[in-house]
Amino acid sequence: MERLMITGQVPLRGEVEVHGAKNSSLPLLAAAVLCRGQTVLHNCPDLSDVSAACEILSYLGCRVEREGRTVIIDTEGLCRHSVPDSLMREMRSSIVFLGAIAARMGQAELSFPGGCELGPRPIDLHLSALRKLGLQIEEQHGGLLCRSEGRMRGTQLTLSFPSVGATENILLAAATARGRTVLNNAAREPEITDLADFLNDCGAKISGAGEGVIVIDGVETLTGCEHRVIPDRIVAATFLSCAACTGGDVRVRKVEPAHLAGVLPIFEEMGCRLECGADSVRLRAPERLRAVRDVRTMPYPGFPTDAQAPVMAAAALAEGTSVFVENIFESRYKHAAELRRMGAQIKLEGRVALVEGVPKLYGAEVFCTDLRGGAALVAAGLAAEGTTVLRDIHHIDRGYERIEEALRPLGARIVREQD
Ligand code: EPZ
Repeated sequence: MERLMITGQVPLRGEVEVHGAKNSSLPLLAAAVLCRGQTVLHNCPDLSDVSAACEILSYLGCRVEREGRTVIIDTEGLCRHSVPDSLMREMRSSIVFLGAIAARMGQAELSFPGGCELGPRPIDLHLSALRKLGLQIEEQHGGLLCRSEGRMRGTQLTLSFPSVGATENILLAAATARGRTVLNNAAREPEITDLADFLNDCGAKISGAGEGVIVIDGVETLTGCEHRVIPDRIVAATFLSCAACTGGDVRVRKVEPAHLAGVLPIFEEMGCRLECGADSVRLRAPERLRAVRDVRTMPYPGFPTDAQAPVMAAAALAEGTSVFVENIFESRYKHAAELRRMGAQIKLEGRVALVEGVPKLYGAEVFCTDLRGGAALVAAGLAAEGTTVLRDIHHIDRGYERIEEALRPLGARIVREQD
């Protein structure tokens, strides 16, 4: 096992590039299954979740080559329609392969994705929509046996909640269905737009992505194309929070500032000065951060749930009490107990977290509880007096490319070593 050793109280200064979005790469890799021939994805981050998705593609019979941040997928050899339990368990978001495999192969077999650190991760919205598109789905001892008689059929769909994953599965299943699908209350995240752009470049007919209503006119076949993955807005928010926590001055580069519209006002409210360029955001932190009145996680374009933990690390050091309301996931405050071990004053009441800022955090031995909770502990460790030993960092490696190598050029004293 590996751990990160972090010695804090160094204000981060300089520039850092942000890699491609994990939450765009994964549905794009699934979308490649739909396409004949070769798909080339650029700016695909080197993350364990991306490796897991590539393993699934190889298992299905695709040829997958990775050259740095470029992934080349050829589906000529596609010969399987099932995803083994071991691979499904490795990454719960593998459920996004369901729509693509079923649409391309006419059948699909996957196990139920396990729950995760954020609480149960139901897929009822995915299954009910796919059934309405004509996919027969049998749920047997934790597995999903799916089959469609010929192509799926377009239809009117309305999501009771703008689920990101369900929207992606619907786009993937409806892209080659017979006829028109109208999806109401679709998720509007930038990753949805990125997926629709890719599918349209492969020959799909999708309009309205990024809005609440998406119209998909099914086509017979899709042909692979070249595509560049959008920047990871959550990694950008995380690096900005590290700058805010340490009283630093950091420019994050190769980002899409518009994708951060839900997050930047919170940093401003905390007293940070922000400067947006065409593909960069600079954050200059104040001597002492101010508390933020309330942070309510919402579907895009609201404040993203994935940024809640990293921003809580900054709030833990602010002057005053900040109120967080986590509206998206049931239990997404596991990092609070670890932050308390570093001296943070955080009170949890259901979906509400009251964070009473303290003047200083202290290095401690802490454990990553999940991907973004782990990132929050990195930010806190960079600000804390003394040394923080951070364990279970495999959680962080799911969504951040060698986070210590990204932060060290900014002055961070952070090293990865064997535990
Ligand atoms: C995606 O998860 C992201 N993951 C998550 O990022 C992100 O937090 C989430 O969207 C919200 O933005 C990927 O893209 C791989 P949802 P997803 O379906 O698709 C409930 C990270 O840190 N729900 O929008 O699973 C669900 O329980 C990860 O990078 C149902 O009830 O999110 C949750 O409470 C964490 N039934 C809420 O909706 C369903 O069928 C949001 O889920 C589906 C979801």
